[in-house]
Amino acid sequence: MALALIVLAAGQGSRMNSDLPKVLHKVGAAPLLHHAMRAGQSLAPDRVVVVTGHGADLVSTAALAFDPDATITLQTEQKGTAHAVQTALPALDGFQGDAFVLYGDTPFIRPETLELMAAARARHAVVVLGFHAADPGRYGRLIASGETLERIVEFKDATEAERAITLCNSGVLCADAATLATLIAKVGNANASGEFYLTDIIALARAAGHSAGVVLCDEAETLGINTRAELAAAEAAFQARARAEALENGVTLTAPDTVFFALDTFVGRDAIIGPNVIFGPGVTIESGAEIKGFCHLEGCHVSRGSDIGPFARLRPGAELAEDVHVGNFVEIKNAVLGEGVKVGHLTYLGDADVGDFTNIGAGTVTCNYDGVMKHRTTIGKRAFIGSDTMLVAPVSVGDDALTGSGSTITEDVPAGALAIGRAKQVNKPGLALRLMERLRAIKAAKKGS
Ligand code: UD1
Ligand code: CA
Repeated sequence: MALALIVLAAGQGSRMNSDLPKVLHKVGAAPLLHHAMRAGQSLAPDRVVVVTGHGADLVSTAALAFDPDATITLQTEQKGTAHAVQTALPALDGFQGDAFVLYGDTPFIRPETLELMAAARARHAVVVLGFHAADPGRYGRLIASGETLERIVEFKDATEAERAITLCNSGVLCADAATLATLIAKVGNANASGEFYLTDIIALARAAGHSAGVVLCDEAETLGINTRAELAAAEAAFQARARAEALENGVTLTAPDTVFFALDTFVGRDAIIGPNVIFGPGVTIESGAEIKGFCHLEGCHVSRGSDIGPFARLRPGAELAEDVHVGNFVEIKNAVLGEGVKVGHLTYLGDADVGDFTNIGAGTVTCNYDGVMKHRTTIGKRAFIGSDTMLVAPVSVGDDALTGSGSTITEDVPAGALAIGRAKQVNKPGLALRLMERLRAIKAAKKGS
């Protein structure tokens, strides 16, 4: 069955007290919107529509970054959730199949839950995701008997008896797209908020002779973010889930509570992650690699057999082949390191290619920036870069070449050559002793005066 996803992301989220649209606040180094889209992606939707409003430009850029095929619609005025879905409907023109409605600010819905809802569609025309709330607060209440849903009443419009109900609306629902369109067209705004409530489609469906049903999930899944405090709580919940999943997947975490994952972090089986490791977006770690304590990784790939850190920083574009060793206080950015490369200590490699089995000595720096432009450094295979070599890019060092320690390399080094670019050493016999004697005499004379 064809499937469409409608993600509502037009709201401002005024309680965030922020210039940034709510759905762009981050959990696990990714905007809330990406979490919702990713959950929906597990259903392999044929169409994805994102409804934008507040900060539409920024929100649509973020949506397209996640899914370049998504359709963006604009809800210029936020007149309610039914109105938001209505603005998405033109984008589903000619579409036949089911439509799921998700909220951009609700990041924890599990793919398994959406699959349960899709299955429940065999029994009901409209399926709503509900949960039992510990503190139902201002959630919409589900008026149901067993799996059958009669209607949903919003908190503002509910009677005391209805407010006592703890079965609540998560906001996620699914229905045949054409049915959804027909029902939404009938929604009015004669209610306490003067808004067009999506929730009204349940009573409308029942009145039209359709069946509506509720699928239940854990309250933790429906956690929506409205405040900074909830954002912080969501981050903690995300990390707890990510750590548990990593352990489950056969990753060793020496101190799980100190490791921070991003939404898209991939760590292979039998990898070992030490304490206080932070993953930014776009990191893949292959099976069996080891990331020692206090490393910061972002936009990089570490292949099997490699060991990184402690205290290393891999920045976007760091591509490490098998059996690479990166030691402490090493920063690597936009650089491709071949198999078996060793970069042990105190080094910056930026905009560089390093061939297989090359050794980079302590304190090496690729001087990649001339103040205006970035330039590349290319180092061949089996080369040996002496400690404290400055490689002034653009520059290349050939296969099997060697640079003397302390060299500043400004010209290409041919394969197999030894390059030395430093002042020649001169020894002056006895001069150290004579110099010290003179300095002590000057000091003594000053004290006497
Ligand atoms: C909604 C539900 C409520 C449910 C709760 C769960 C309705 C009428 N009420 O209430 O039953 O318990 O979610 O969190 O649906 N949005 C738009 N355009 C709009 C209005 C909202 O895009 O015009 C988006 C918001 O950005 C947000 C989502 O829809 O992502 C939910 O809107 P919100 O105003 O937070 O709804 P609630 O009042 O929380
Ligand atoms: Ca809300």
